[in-house]
Amino acid sequence: MKLPNGRFLLWDVPTRLFHWLLALLILLQWGTAEWHWFDMKWHFYGGYAILALLLFRLLWGVLGSDSARFSRFVRGPGAVLAYLRTLHQREPEFVAGHNPVGGWSVLALLACVALQVMTGLFSGEEDEALYGPLAGWLSDSTIHAITEVHEFNKNVLLALIIVHVLGVLWHLIVKRENLIAAMLGGRATLREDPKLRFAGLGLAIVLAGMCAGAVWALVTYAAR
Ligand code: HEM
Ligand code: HEM
Repeated sequence: MKLPNGRFLLWDVPTRLFHWLLALLILLQWGTAEWHWFDMKWHFYGGYAILALLLFRLLWGVLGSDSARFSRFVRGPGAVLAYLRTLHQREPEFVAGHNPVGGWSVLALLACVALQVMTGLFSGEEDEALYGPLAGWLSDSTIHAITEVHEFNKNVLLALIIVHVLGVLWHLIVKRENLIAAMLGGRATLREDPKLRFAGLGLAIVLAGMCAGAVWALVTYAAR
């Protein structure tokens, strides 16, 4: 029996803000480091903001709304294989959250961004006397090695972002399912009410404030 479809709230405001701020800030990181946008100090500020966003997303993945919880969308190999067999089907999936492959790609993106930020904090460019705030704790050779990782991992991150956007476009064009509209407006077309629980905005504001404070304390008091 074909069930009627409806529009249901899927992504809460904090998750959507997290996503689009992260995407904008990553663009800023490329602009400042590769295309000479503004001053490199904005690369550092952008990096701190990304670190705060990541910390927030980790907490939101445990304490936040159902659709943001890692426990809901990180699935085992069985579910991933079963999903892969349906990938070619030219019809919407109506998944109330990240699908099993999407869940792992979210984790890969988050881990790659985390590595990029952490190496950035310890990176340095001797010729320009430009050093991340924590680089002073390390020897020159270690700074050099970490900077190499920062320079290499940017390519991994770019590749993951390209695959991510292609995956979203695959849904749009092949499966005729607009995931972008859901990440923008929050509502997705689903077969039935997924009965998700949504965490309060107050909790998100407190957690975001704590994350911003922790990053500020780190780059203020641990800088060397
Ligand atoms: C720097 C670029 C980007 C990064 C690092 C990024 C990262 C992410 C992450 C981490 C998530 C998981 C969201 C969460 O659960 O918190 C996500 C989901 C999503 N992103 Fe992006 N994103 C980027 C750019 C884009 C762009 C340009 C689009 C639009 C074409 C897009 C569309 C989406 C959509 C539709 C989802 C939800 C997927 C689903 O329904 O499972 N992203 N992205
Ligand atoms: C997700 C966050 C970040 C992204 C996407 C990013 C991206 C980049 C890119 C694309 C470059 C140019 C690399 C090259 O020349 O090949 C770069 C260089 C650099 N970044 Fe970041 N970065 C991030 C975070 C940070 C943070 C948090 C810091 C320090 C607070 C930092 C410090 C540096 C420094 C010192 C350089 C110059 C070293 C060099 O030229 O390789 N980055 N970054």
